[in-house]
Amino acid sequence: MDKLEVFGARKLKGSVRISGSKNAALPILAASILSNQKIILKNLPNVKDIETMIKLLESIGSVIKYSKKKNSVIIKNKNKLKTFASYNLVKTMRAGILVLGPMLARYGNAKVSTPGGCSIGVRPIDIHLKSLAKLGVNYKIVDGYVYAHSKKKLKGAKIRFPKISVGATENLIIASSMAAGTTVLSNCAIEPEIKDLVNFINCIGGKIKWIGKRTLRIHGVNYFKENEYSIMPDRIEAGTYLIAAAVTEGDLKILGINPNIIKTEIDILKKIGLKIKTEKEIIKILGNKNIKNINLKTSPYPGFPTDLQAQLMVLLCKSKKISIISEEIFENRFMHVAELNRMGAKIKTKGNKAFIEGNTNFRAAELMATDLRASVSLILAALTAKGKTTINRIYHLDRGYEQIEKKLRKIGANIRRVS
Ligand code: UD1
Repeated sequence: MDKLEVFGARKLKGSVRISGSKNAALPILAASILSNQKIILKNLPNVKDIETMIKLLESIGSVIKYSKKKNSVIIKNKNKLKTFASYNLVKTMRAGILVLGPMLARYGNAKVSTPGGCSIGVRPIDIHLKSLAKLGVNYKIVDGYVYAHSKKKLKGAKIRFPKISVGATENLIIASSMAAGTTVLSNCAIEPEIKDLVNFINCIGGKIKWIGKRTLRIHGVNYFKENEYSIMPDRIEAGTYLIAAAVTEGDLKILGINPNIIKTEIDILKKIGLKIKTEKEIIKILGNKNIKNINLKTSPYPGFPTDLQAQLMVLLCKSKKISIISEEIFENRFMHVAELNRMGAKIKTKGNKAFIEGNTNFRAAELMATDLRASVSLILAALTAKGKTTINRIYHLDRGYEQIEKKLRKIGANIRRVS
């Protein structure tokens, strides 16, 4: 199994270009099931989750030309697709559940493995299922599979999500865009990736409109047209590199991302003492020794993202005083804490709160990665530690960060993969 070796205590300097967003690309790939016309997607990140979603689509009969070099796919669904997503493919990637909506919209039935739990929490799909039921879907869960069908074509409805959920909002947008009549979805997640999904579906002929801050009106259509679409940049990757510059007291230019979509993150980094300047598609950050403490909670967009919580925690370990982070999205997302403490951090957790004492000089150690964002937080800590840190089980990292070692090496990190 691959592991990473990091020799730290080097400042990161130079520029890094942000890849396409994994979390935008996954629902857009799932939405391709709606159409029998050619779809070209560009700026796909070359990461494992995208490969898994492409495998899933191929397993149901999509004909896909995937060019990793060009970060693009050409998808054609000329023949009838199967409506089955196997456990083997959904187990490694929760976003597999996003094929449920489009299968039901196009074919009226689906058998899709439940994603089960994962290391960051239980991660139920009840909101997806109860909302699809409002479009006329009947379902039952037997032996780890959702069996769903609708007697007639899905029918538009008014649906208010009981809680903000990125995945449920996406599944319902995709399903409603081919349902009969009009659907109004309220209390939607409004992450930029959701907006990208809406823009994509409209670009292939959907009729979706934002009619309120968290409200969408969707007129269902019967057919989608051929078109090409470029996936938005990855805001979590951008945030991760900003923090990498900050923890190493480096000097970095982040290229290819509109700073407005990570305004919350930039404001917080400024508040704790980082110098950041933004231009149209560039963010410049200059690190320094004096990191201030902060209390914050993760929350749905436009709040601070849970997907950057572990990375920010590493930076707050450098502050002189105690910081408190409340994790409000996932109940078990402090798996990185034990490993960071092994490197010398002084972090205590109580329920969904982490108390980060600060004044930490990370020490190199042998570590175990637990989930995607936890893995990258260990790299960030290792980048500041003298000596060799070894990070095991990095397959999590490969699910979501394109060419991380190459990008980090280019800006001065000493990091290598050992197979
Ligand atoms: C997506 C992102 C993930 C990110 C998360 C929150 C993708 C592929 N993944 O995950 O990186 O961390 O948003 O920003 O885009 N919930 C329910 N019932 C449901 C659905 C969700 O109770 O049916 C709960 C979840 O357990 C969690 C909260 O709602 O506590 C938010 O989850 P959700 O927004 O759905 O996250 P995902 O779409 O799984």
